Amino acid sequence: MDIAQAFEACFARKPEVIAQAPGRVNLIGEHIDYSDGYVLPFAIDSVTKCAISRRDDDLIRISSAQQSNQLIESSLTQVANKVGNDWERYVLGVIWALEIKSGLDIFIDGQVPLGAGLSSSAALECSVATALNHLFVLEKTTTELARLTQLAENQYVGVPCGIMDQSVSLMGKAGYALLLDCRDLSTKHIPVDFAGADLRLLIIDTRAHHALVDGGYAERRASCESVAKKLNVVAMRDLSMQHLIENKDKLSEVEFKRARHAVSEIARVLTAVEELSSKSFAAFGKLLNDSHSSLRDDYTVSCPELDLAVDSALANGALGARMVGGGFGGSAIALIKEQDAGRISLAIEKAFAEAGFKAPRFFDSLPSDGAKVIS
Ligand code: GLA
Repeated sequence: MDIAQAFEACFARKPEVIAQAPGRVNLIGEHIDYSDGYVLPFAIDSVTKCAISRRDDDLIRISSAQQSNQLIESSLTQVANKVGNDWERYVLGVIWALEIKSGLDIFIDGQVPLGAGLSSSAALECSVATALNHLFVLEKTTTELARLTQLAENQYVGVPCGIMDQSVSLMGKAGYALLLDCRDLSTKHIPVDFAGADLRLLIIDTRAHHALVDGGYAERRASCESVAKKLNVVAMRDLSMQHLIENKDKLSEVEFKRARHAVSEIARVLTAVEELSSKSFAAFGKLLNDSHSSLRDDYTVSCPELDLAVDSALANGALGARMVGGGFGGSAIALIKEQDAGRISLAIEKAFAEAGFKAPRFFDSLPSDGAKVIS
């Protein structure tokens, strides 16, 4: 059953609009979006679809193919009070942020793997935002929608995420990674052609718990903000490595390490763009490794499953590998030779079994298009 039919089966009428938005992987630039840094993610080919029709009362009814079509009911008054218990808060948060004043029937079909660190939540938010933008002729730009969906996640859902995931879900382009300046949201599309060099980006979902709502993420953000304050800069973006080292004694040891990750990672993104543009994939792979070490040792957001995925990929010939997303579980990426794909996946599976970890899942995706209205 496609989403239009599922909507009709659920609400006994046709949807007025259907939109879709993708999840993402981030090539490089981790935990620096909230430090005004540069990031280089791309949209993946798994999407969340959302079908909506207006109602003439103030009820909001939401159903999803992944929740056995169970109907969740809310209202505009509840939305104004930021009420919601579960996953529907991502949907209600967008209705709140876009200041929609009409009742709605909404059906969701989410195909972005949940809990894999591939931004299923941003895909959900951005599919709803894109559908509402079209339905109510709000004429918001993708930049405005990125800020509003982030606001929904920060203030309605209560997750202090940065702006990377929503931006790439809205602005991604097939064949390109998105170089995003998280300070002013200016973008540049960077061609990514791993296949042309017989390479593949393997996505390894460790299936370890992805606890973004827990305190770890907020604690990293707070450290960076504290460093910025102590060193009198707006954000980590404004620090050079030299300035950081010269002012080391003003910071705690942990703060220094957090800042060292941020400053070095921002520089790595810009170098990575040069290496990608000149198709220097070995050098690009090395930057992935450096990023992982920095996230593991300085930012301490990795975990044994992510480290094992990265180490096994490298031991079996990957050009580079690193954890992606918020960390504490979720996925890693490995840039590998096409011919090694089977062997490397097997080696990672074996290493996970030997360590007593859950069996990992493997995906691969070419850089794909961002959110769009599909009917
Ligand atoms: C999560 C957040 C993003 C970003 C990454 C880490 O995915 O939602 O805003 O901070 O973690 O790079």
